[in-house]
Formats: sequence, structure tokens, C-alpha cells
Amino acid sequence: MKLTNFTPTILGIDTSCDDTSAAVVRGQVVLSNVVASQTQLHQPYGGVFPTVAKQAHLANIYPTIEIALKRAQVTWDGIDAIAITIGPGLAPALEVGVETVKTIAAKKNKKVIAINHMEGHAFSGLLVSHSRQQAVPEFPPKISWPILAVTVSGGHTEFVKIDGLREFKVLGKTIDDAAGECLDKVGRMLNLGYPAGPVMEEFAKLGNSKRYPFPLPMTTTNSSDMSFSGLKTAARNLLQELTSKQDLSKQELYDFAASFQARVFDHICNKLTKLLKNDSEQQYSQVLLGGGVAANMTLRKMLRKTLKPFSLTLTCPINKRVCGDNGAMIALVGALNFSNRANTDYKSLERLPRLHIGEKI
Ligand code: KG4
Ligand code: ZN
Repeated sequence: MKLTNFTPTILGIDTSCDDTSAAVVRGQVVLSNVVASQTQLHQPYGGVFPTVAKQAHLANIYPTIEIALKRAQVTWDGIDAIAITIGPGLAPALEVGVETVKTIAAKKNKKVIAINHMEGHAFSGLLVSHSRQQAVPEFPPKISWPILAVTVSGGHTEFVKIDGLREFKVLGKTIDDAAGECLDKVGRMLNLGYPAGPVMEEFAKLGNSKRYPFPLPMTTTNSSDMSFSGLKTAARNLLQELTSKQDLSKQELYDFAASFQARVFDHICNKLTKLLKNDSEQQYSQVLLGGGVAANMTLRKMLRKTLKPFSLTLTCPINKRVCGDNGAMIALVGALNFSNRANTDYKSLERLPRLHIGEKI
């Protein structure tokens, strides 16, 4: 069967970390995107506790799927395939999604598409809002390759060249902590709660980003890799020094947040500039930003400024819910790959916690 004018409706499920998410996407259009957050459960641990995550996924997954279908006004008959994240992520968390999808697919007689979570973040900027007024975009979309994906999340920070739907090349990545993880850890030192990234953004708006000059990492190497652990140590040392006699004042706290956040983003922008200068022959059609930290407006602004001299535009996800972990981005990758990856032989499907972007699955 030729599938040229066919726009698949995909149920996308992601249980890679601490959010249970299910979404229905038709082509690129988000019909629903439900995220059952476990943030409150993990708050006392200051990070994600895998066994707690697994229990919460087990409790939430079926209701989350039901709500996603209901909000999308789609019945099971209207679902052409189920796209499921198989990695990377926390093994016990991924397992819940993978095993649930196998059960549902057998019961409802559905095709399954195994998805790499990082492909979801990389393509999340291509999701389109559902609007009754607007014409449904043509599917499959005409994508000009290569695209440069900048993914900044709690688990990853990477620059990826995308030459086709299944052709990924990592051009640079963090060699230690991810940017979001670094913001969360320093935010924890500042008692901003968990995850601290969004609070850091709000505090930074009230502060002076030039007050505390944190060092810019890896300036002497030409590589596009990044490192955030030195910044974290510098923050700990400065905080100890500043609080040795008395607690930070409100203004000092805001200035600390602004200075630290700016340096984390400076590092990303600095490495992106290096990458684009080293790679000047490449004609990227666009730069797609994704990942939880993509919700940060200061990061978006700084990246736009970085890309301007290269005449490149930044495409950001349509809303914050598709920046962090979500089923919509998984469904989108499923829709884009529907004609060649949807499978009825999914019984041997396994979670792959250490999966790399571009790895064959
Ligand atoms: O993509 P995501 O939901 O999970 C991973 O796949 O890692 O990203 C979560 C990360 C956390 O580190 C969180 O603090 C950060 O995204 N984050 C933000 C903002 N919103 C979420 N960081 C900075 N500013 C924000 N507004
Ligand atoms: Zn993620």
C-alpha cells in the first residue's frame, strides 16, 4: 500500500524518567498531550528515585492513556500505531511503558513503533498546535536536511546533526553533568527545591547576571563538547565563601541565580559558535531546540543571538509541555517514521536504558 497522502494518528507514550506521559498526535498536530508529573514524589530525595518512579508509572499509565484518548476525541479504532520510548532512561521506569504497550498492542491489535527518547527531544520543535481554524499541515512535511538539533535537558546536553529521519551524528555533548542537572544541583545548594531550573529562571529575572563572574569552561579547546561540573564546583566554593558569615540576602540570591544561569548558557552558546565556525561548510536549514531547559526564555534569547551571525533561525517547541518529557514528541517521531518502522512483531521489544541517538533499534 502506498502511504503518500496518509496522515497517521499515533498514540505516543513516554515513561523514561519521572513523568508518565501519553499523547495523541496526527501527523505533526498535537491532539492531546497528558503528563502525570511525579515531581512532588521525588522532591524529598532532591532527584529521581527509580523504584518510586516505577510505582508511580504503574499507577498512572492506564489513566494517563485514557485521558489522552479522551482529550483527543479519538477511540482505539482511530489509533494507527503506538509509539513507545524504549531508551535512554531509567530501566525500571522504561520497563513500565514498554511492557504496558506490549499488553495493549496485543489486546487492541495495534502496530508498535520503538522510539529513542532523544530523537523525540531533537524533533519536538516540529510539533504543531491543534487549531480548528488552521488548515491541517501537509504530511509528511517537506524537511530540508541537514538540521542542527540543540537538546538541553536534565539528562543530556548535545548538538546533533540530522541528515534524515534516521541519520544522526552527535557533534558535541557534555562530558559530565547535563545543563539541567547542573542547574538543579546548584539550585539545591540555594534551596530552590526540585527541579530547580524553572525557579532559577524566575530568580534570575530579578538579578544582575554580571555580579558573580563564574568561569567559562573549556575555552582553550576547539572541540564542541561541553562540561558543567567545574561550574558546579565554582558555585559551591563561592556559596561557601559568601555564606561563611551570614546567609545570602534576597538580592544576592537573585544575582547568584542570574550569574550562574547566564554562565551555563554562555558555555552552550560559546560551544555552538565554535561548532558553527568549525563546520562553516554545512548549510543547516534550521536549528531545533528541545529538552526541558528549552522552556527557559533567557536560553532561547541567547541562542537566537548566537545564531544570528550565521543567518540561522531557532525553532522552539510550541509550549513548555513539549519541552520537558512528553508523549507528543514520541508520537511525532512515530508519525514521521510510520511507513517504515511500525511493526506488529513487538514481542521481543526491550527497554534500552543506555541507548544513544542514532543507534539502530
Ligand atoms: O527534558 P526533561 O523534562 O527531562 C530529561 O529528559 O532530562 O528536562 C528536565 C530538566 C530539569 O533539569 C529542569 O530543571 C529543567 O529541565 N528545566 C528548566 C526549566 N524548565 C525545566 N531549566 C531552566 N529553566 C526552565 N524554565
Ligand atoms: Zn528527556
